[in-house]
Amino acid sequence: RHADACAVVIFGASGDLTRRKLVPALYNLALGRYLTGSFAVVGVARRPKTNEQFREEMKEGVSKFSRRKPVDSAVWSDFEKGVSYVAGTFEDKGTYEKLRAHLEQLDQERGTRKNRLFYLAVPPADFGTIARGLKEAGLVAPPPNGDRSAPWTRVVIEKPFGHDLASARALNATISKVFEEEQVFRIDHYLGKETVQNLLVFRFANSLFEPVWTREHVDHVQITVAEEIGVEGRGKFYEKTGVTRDIVENHLMQLLCLTAMEPPISLEADAVRDEKVKVLRSLRPIEHSLVTENVVRGQYGRGHVRAEEVPAYREEPDVATDSAVETYVAARVFVDNWRWGGVPFYVRAGKRMLRRVTEIALQFKKVPHSLFRPTDGGITPNVLSLRIQPDEGIAVRFISKEPGQATILRDVSMDFRYGTAFGSNTPEAYERLLLDAIRGDATLFTRSDEVEHQWAFIDPVFEAWNAGAAPPPQYPAGSWGPEQADDLLARDGRRWRKP
Ligand code: BG6
Repeated sequence: RHADACAVVIFGASGDLTRRKLVPALYNLALGRYLTGSFAVVGVARRPKTNEQFREEMKEGVSKFSRRKPVDSAVWSDFEKGVSYVAGTFEDKGTYEKLRAHLEQLDQERGTRKNRLFYLAVPPADFGTIARGLKEAGLVAPPPNGDRSAPWTRVVIEKPFGHDLASARALNATISKVFEEEQVFRIDHYLGKETVQNLLVFRFANSLFEPVWTREHVDHVQITVAEEIGVEGRGKFYEKTGVTRDIVENHLMQLLCLTAMEPPISLEADAVRDEKVKVLRSLRPIEHSLVTENVVRGQYGRGHVRAEEVPAYREEPDVATDSAVETYVAARVFVDNWRWGGVPFYVRAGKRMLRRVTEIALQFKKVPHSLFRPTDGGITPNVLSLRIQPDEGIAVRFISKEPGQATILRDVSMDFRYGTAFGSNTPEAYERLLLDAIRGDATLFTRSDEVEHQWAFIDPVFEAWNAGAAPPPQYPAGSWGPEQADDLLARDGRRWRKP
C-alpha cells in the first residue's frame, strides 16, 4: 500500500544520521514506489544553507550510503524536487514560524495535505524544546481518531531515550504534554531489521518450533550483539553512554522480548507491545547485591581486529585516559514466568569483538539417556540459532551418524540462508521503519512503558557499578571479551558460543 501524502521534517538535518540513513532510506522508498508524488522532506538545522546545498549534500549521502547503486537519476531528480531546508535554532520561536509557513506552502505546491512526520534526530535534551516549539506554532494536530481523511501529526524519536529511568520518565512526561502516545514513534532500529521481523514469523507461522520453545526443552538461551568496530570517533558520546545504555537497554532487550514473549493476540501494535511488556515485567530484577554475581563488564584494550592493530578504548579521541566506561557487558538474566522459569538467558554485547555477529541461540536439553558409547563420540546438545547479522539465516545443529561401518557421531547443521533463499535485495531497517511511521503502524516502535521497564531493569546495575571502586577489567580488542564473562557461564556448567 502507498504511504499517505506527507512532509517528513528532520530536525538535526546536518547530522550523520540524516545523510547516512534517513535520506537514503527515503530515496530507496521512492525508488521502490512506496511514496506518493505528494511527498516532501524538510531538513531543519542551525547552519544556514540553501535548498540547493542541502540537496547536493543529500545526493552525496544517497550515492554513498544507499544500498541501491548507482543513483537512478530520474528517480532522484523527481525526489529532490521535494527536498528543502529551513535554517534556525531549536530555541528560536522564529524557526517554527518559518517552518509553518514553509509547510503550508508545501501543502499548496506539493499536496502534502497537512500530514506531518517530525523526525527528531537530535540529542534527548532537545526533544522537549522542539516539541514545545512545534505546539506553540500550531504545528501539532490532534490524533485523527479514526477519521482517515483528517490530517495527522506524528513524531519519531531517536535513541537514546534518556539516560536512566528518571530521565526516561521525564522525557515521556515532556513529550506527552504535546503528543498523544499514538502519535509517538520511538525508534529502535533493530526492530526494523528483516531478520528481527522474521523472528515473529519464524515463531508464529510455523508449528514445528513453538512447542519446544519452553523450559521443558530449552536448557538456556544466548543472545549476542558483537561488533568489530570501536567507538568510531564518537568518544564524547560513548563516555556518557557505554555499551549497556547504547545497546543493551534497547536493541538487546528488544531481542530478548521477541524471543521470550507469548504469542500476541494479533500483530496490531499494542497487542505485540503488551506481550513485550509482560516479558519485561517478568525479568528477575538484578538488585544491587546481585550485580557482581550476574553481570560482567569489560573495556577493550589494544589488540588486533582482522589482523589490524587497533588502539585501546582509553586511547580513543575524547575518551578519558582513566575512563571506567564499559565497552562490553554480559549478564545472566531470568524471565520468571511459566514458560521460562529457571531457564537462564545469557546476553552479551561488546565493541571490538573478534567478529561482528548478532545472534539468538536456543540450546536444547541433553537427551535423557545415551544409547551410544563414549567412544562413539559425544552427544552435544541441539542448538537452534537465528543469525540476525551478518550472513543472515537460521541453523539447527543436530547429531548425525558419520557414514561407515562404525557408529561415529557427528555434530552437523541444517542451514537456511537469506542470501541463498531470497537473494541479497534486503531493505534496510530505516526504510521499513520510516514507511511504517508514515503509514501510522507503530508495531515496530517502542511504547513509553516498554522504555521505562527497560530502564528500570538496567538502573540497579549502574547503581552497583557506581558504588564499587573497581574499574571494568580490560580485554584485548579482537577477542570475545574478558575472562570473567566465561566464568559467568562456567559456574553454571555452560559455555559461550563462538559464532
Ligand atoms: C547503534 C549504536 O544504536 O547501533 C552504535 O549507537 C552501534 O554504537 C549500532 O554501532 C549498531 O547497529 P547495527 O545495525 O550496525 O548492528
